[in-house]
Amino acid sequence: MPVVTEIEELRRLYQRRVPKMFYDYAVSGSWTEQTLRENTSDFQHIRLKQRVAVDMSNRATRAQMIGQDVAMPVALAPVGLTGMQSADGEIKAARAAERFGVPFTLSTMSICSIEDVADHTTKPFWFQVYTLKDDEFMRRLFDRARAAGCSAIVVTVDLQIMAQRHRDLKNGLSAPPKLTVSAMMDLLTKIPWGLEMLGTKRRFFGNIAGHAKGVDDPSSLATWTNQAFDHALDWPRIAQFKKWWGGKMIIKGIMDPEDARRAADIGADAIIVSNHGGRQLDGAASSIRMLPSIIEAVGDRVEVHFDSGIRSGQDVLKALALGAKGTYIGRAFTYGLGAMGEAGVTKALDILHKELDVTMALCGETDVKNLGPHNLYVPRGFGDPTVQLSKGTA
Ligand code: GLV
Repeated sequence: MPVVTEIEELRRLYQRRVPKMFYDYAVSGSWTEQTLRENTSDFQHIRLKQRVAVDMSNRATRAQMIGQDVAMPVALAPVGLTGMQSADGEIKAARAAERFGVPFTLSTMSICSIEDVADHTTKPFWFQVYTLKDDEFMRRLFDRARAAGCSAIVVTVDLQIMAQRHRDLKNGLSAPPKLTVSAMMDLLTKIPWGLEMLGTKRRFFGNIAGHAKGVDDPSSLATWTNQAFDHALDWPRIAQFKKWWGGKMIIKGIMDPEDARRAADIGADAIIVSNHGGRQLDGAASSIRMLPSIIEAVGDRVEVHFDSGIRSGQDVLKALALGAKGTYIGRAFTYGLGAMGEAGVTKALDILHKELDVTMALCGETDVKNLGPHNLYVPRGFGDPTVQLSKGTA
């Protein structure tokens, strides 16, 4: 096994192992990918404050997210089609997260079903909810999540309509892949992946295919989102979910202070400042630039979490120091999963943990809970996306 030292290396291994269709799906952003790029490059405008001669012998990364203990404030984000990156991918990722002591969030658009993941794990996981028009299906989905022991739902509010990712259209993205000539040619270079996939029966959208009605091509993510997703999703509907569910609820996809207040008003336990990893509104500000004004808008009324752009422990530290109480990784763990299966997810978590721990120490801090703006140099105007950041720093 190669000595892997950074997330970028996992990405390169992943690219070699997994069919182009699924690699492209994970790495793409929408349209010009401006937001995708700025999600990562804007982190580099923030500098860390080096402090010395601090006793760094007893360090702690343990924290809590929505009242649950976590080994570090980094959860696995919901990622659609995870089970196409590696056979039974959601089960592998959930197990790796459980062993590490961080939350795993299962996507509605997963390959392994809620029941599959529950059967192969021992601790509660979180379940991400996409809103389909079919009320009966939605109520049943909550019942299934409850029966599986899920300890929170994550309601995604920024994808009633899916934005265009060019490569998904060109590749004819579907689960399982349709065997076109170009897909076959590509598969010939991905034999170990194919053999692994032949060994599992989980190759369809496990939470919805067979459970939800009215979709012409149940193998296509685009068809599901176009035909079955509820374009009418609004705040009263989200409040209704909170009632139906009755447990902890996290709202994912908040990029505006007013929306953050609305989420707090309906009693969300946490919000995730997120632009869906640059996969939805291309041209939106980076997630990290919106974090400060959203925290200011809601104060302590709701826990503020962060995703979009995290590829290192340094990025995690910056988001925490700006005030986020938790962070999420999507691509970073997907690269690991595609590269090396369950061990690769553990590897991604190990890399991030080590980077977070050592960086925290070099900033003169010994506990993630004490991180704050005092650890950062943030350029003037960073939290105001109308201010152009100086060139040459990213
Ligand atoms: C689904 O959540 C996607 O971003 O493709």
